[in-house]
Amino acid sequence: MQHIVIAVDGPAASGKSSVSREIARRLGYLYVNTGAMYRAVTWLVLHSELDPSDASSVEQLLANSELECGVRDGASCFRVNGSDPGDALVSAEVTAAVSKVASQPSVRRRLVSLQRLYANQQPSVMEGRDIGSAVFPETPHKFYIDASAEVRAARRAGQGLQDSVTQRDAMDSSRRDSPLTIPEGADVIDSSHMNVQEVVSEILTRLALKGIRPVL
Ligand code: CDP
Repeated sequence: MQHIVIAVDGPAASGKSSVSREIARRLGYLYVNTGAMYRAVTWLVLHSELDPSDASSVEQLLANSELECGVRDGASCFRVNGSDPGDALVSAEVTAAVSKVASQPSVRRRLVSLQRLYANQQPSVMEGRDIGSAVFPETPHKFYIDASAEVRAARRAGQGLQDSVTQRDAMDSSRRDSPLTIPEGADVIDSSHMNVQEVVSEILTRLALKGIRPVL
């Protein structure tokens, strides 16, 4: 790893995305949303009319697909076979199937290698489920953002999105390949009673103690 990686992991709808995007903006780092990468591959699987649980078909599809990682407005963006799935990434269909697709080792291998390429390019704030535990276990900057199941379900419903967060968490935590877990050495923040700015301030305070300071 050539650049600093700030790993932000946690369960569904814990606020990771808003917090990570804002921390990246304040630090002048790249924001990498790895969940969007798993969602984009899931979109491709559904678009190709494959069964998301059929590991060999999914592996073959990926072997024949072009996955392009780019950067737009300081954030990662991702195209599959030349298409940007856009709002379809958060559709109910993709959300319902993503944990199945993300449990497949061939998918994880391919996406983790792309995530490591991002970190070769510039300092980043990378959010996901396994960033501190499996993608960058060596980074000294690891955060795990949690919130109660009730708060997380309410946050998702407030966004007008259909999502059974507890079911997704159960699948993400129980899969064999790099399950959702609190990474060793991570600072755990329970955001149940905190807003985005409060979580951002907390993380920036802890990073400042290690010499990482905002530019904005
Ligand atoms: O909805 P939320 O923002 O919480 O989830 P997401 O970050 O968009 O991730 C969607 C799904 O991708 C998760 O439920 C996991 O199944 C998978 N994922 C993963 O397996 N590993 C990651 N590093 C990121 C996401």
